[in-house]
Amino acid sequence: MTVGEVARRAGVATSAVRFYEAQGLISAERTAGNQRRYRRHVLRRLSLVLTAKRLGIPLAELAEVFATLPEHRMPSKRDWERISRQWAAHLAARRREIERLERELTGCIGCGCLSLQRCRVLNPGDELAAQGAGPRRLIPDE
Ligand code: FES
Repeated sequence: MTVGEVARRAGVATSAVRFYEAQGLISAERTAGNQRRYRRHVLRRLSLVLTAKRLGIPLAELAEVFATLPEHRMPSKRDWERISRQWAAHLAARRREIERLERELTGCIGCGCLSLQRCRVLNPGDELAAQGAGPRRLIPDE
């Protein structure tokens, strides 16, 4: 299939097909005239890419998953079971993170202190706070 055919069948722009190819998620072969031609299984890969995008799976994580898939055949039912299990775990971890953020943000409602010392929403993971108050990187070693 040409890039235009793949784009039309997958419901994406041709630039998206080229982008996913540049990211190594799909591949094409070249004709004697140096034109891209895609095998049909690329459509299945693209549907996985679009699903991952909808689920908010980062491109780097998607690339890791795709590295475990066979290059020249359609992902199998077993492949999809493994991938969907992995993505379900990813979504569960994100849900827990969102719930944690929601709890922290709830603490800010009615507070409004905007304190960089107290507020974990405004200043998450403040490791330098353990060294004391003030601009720790600008204070010479005491
Ligand atoms: S604004 Fe006070 S704790 Fe977040």
